Formats: sequence, structure tokens, C-alpha cells
Amino acid sequence: MKIKDLEFKKFIPATKIDDKVAELAAQINHDYKDKTPVFLPVLNGSFMFAADLLKEVKIPCRVSFVKTSSYSGTMSTGQLKTLIGHDESLFNQNILIVEDIVDSGLTLEKIIEELRGLGAKSVEAISLLRKKSAREKKIDVKYVGFDLEDEFVLGYGLDYDGLGRNYKDIYKATRSTEEAK
Ligand code: IMP
Repeated sequence: MKIKDLEFKKFIPATKIDDKVAELAAQINHDYKDKTPVFLPVLNGSFMFAADLLKEVKIPCRVSFVKTSSYSGTMSTGQLKTLIGHDESLFNQNILIVEDIVDSGLTLEKIIEELRGLGAKSVEAISLLRKKSAREKKIDVKYVGFDLEDEFVLGYGLDYDGLGRNYKDIYKATRSTEEAK
């Protein structure tokens, strides 16, 4: 599959994602029983993961989508915006940030810092994917679906320059179409 200048090949099929999502939800159902957590899925990337995950969450919970961004193209710009969209009071709440992918961890660290400042009771993160640099930096992600190397992925909510979020499987970039010529 070609998107703009990059070629992608199927990497994690939808069936494998479904199984992993069910596994993660089961852990949350167990760990957050009687805690009424507030899920904060980070838009846009986590919309598909959050929807599938929350269908498997069987405990009472709240959901509030939030937004922030540090990416442009395939490289982190390092520029961070503040968290927007959390309309409910998060004071004294058990918060679970829902991310599509944690790469440098800059986005997540900034969100966690902001939420702690708002007086949250607990702040944890769940991410479907985690890249090598997040592991090296020991970014605190309590629940992780799949660990990746330093590869660029797309699909299941993740994009390349705004494209590709709609696919139900996850693809990874192989080589640029420029190189392929
Ligand atoms: P971080 O701040 O470097 O951890 O970047 C986190 C955000 O960058 C994610 O929520 C994604 O939106 C985006 N991102 C990081 N890696 C990828 C990728 O491989 N494909 C698509 N988006 C990515």
C-alpha cells in the first residue's frame, strides 16, 4: 500500500489487535473495579482503540476525549500544546489516559504533569503501541498492547500526514517510494 511518498505493509492484523484489546480491558476491569475511572482518550490517534477498548470495559466509568499534539509528518517537532477538552472536573479522580502510541513520551509526560496539577487522585496510561525510545526513557505506561522497534506505523487510528487512520489493521512503513524507483 502506498500513502504519499511511503510504502506500507500489513504489520498487525485486526484479529490480533482485537485479542489484545480484550486482554487489556480484562486487566482494567480487574484493577479498576470499584474505582469508577475517568478515561481520557487522546485525539485523534486513539479514537479507534478507545472505542474498541471501552466496549470491553464492564465497570462503571466516565469518558472524556482530549486533544494535544507534538507531531508533524513522521518526526516529532518537540512542540507541545496544552491539553484541551476535559470538561469534567478531574479533581480526586482515578484517571486513565488512552494513547494510540507512545514514542518519545513527550506528549504523555506533559499530559500526566497537567493532570497531576489538576489534583487527580491517580494518573495512569494505557497505550496500544509503545516504541523503543519510550522504553529506553522508561516512560511510565501501565498498560501496553504491543512493543515496537523504531518503526513508523499507520492504521487503526494512526496517520501519516492525516491519512490512513481509517484502516482496521496496522501497517508499517517499509521504504519510501523514492528509494524504490
Ligand atoms: P511522542 O510525544 O513522541 O510520544 O508522540 C506521541 C504521538 O505521536 C502519538 O500520539 C501519535 O499521534 C504520534 N506518533 C508517534 N509515532 C507515530 C507513528 O509511528 N505513526 C503515527 N503517529 C505516530
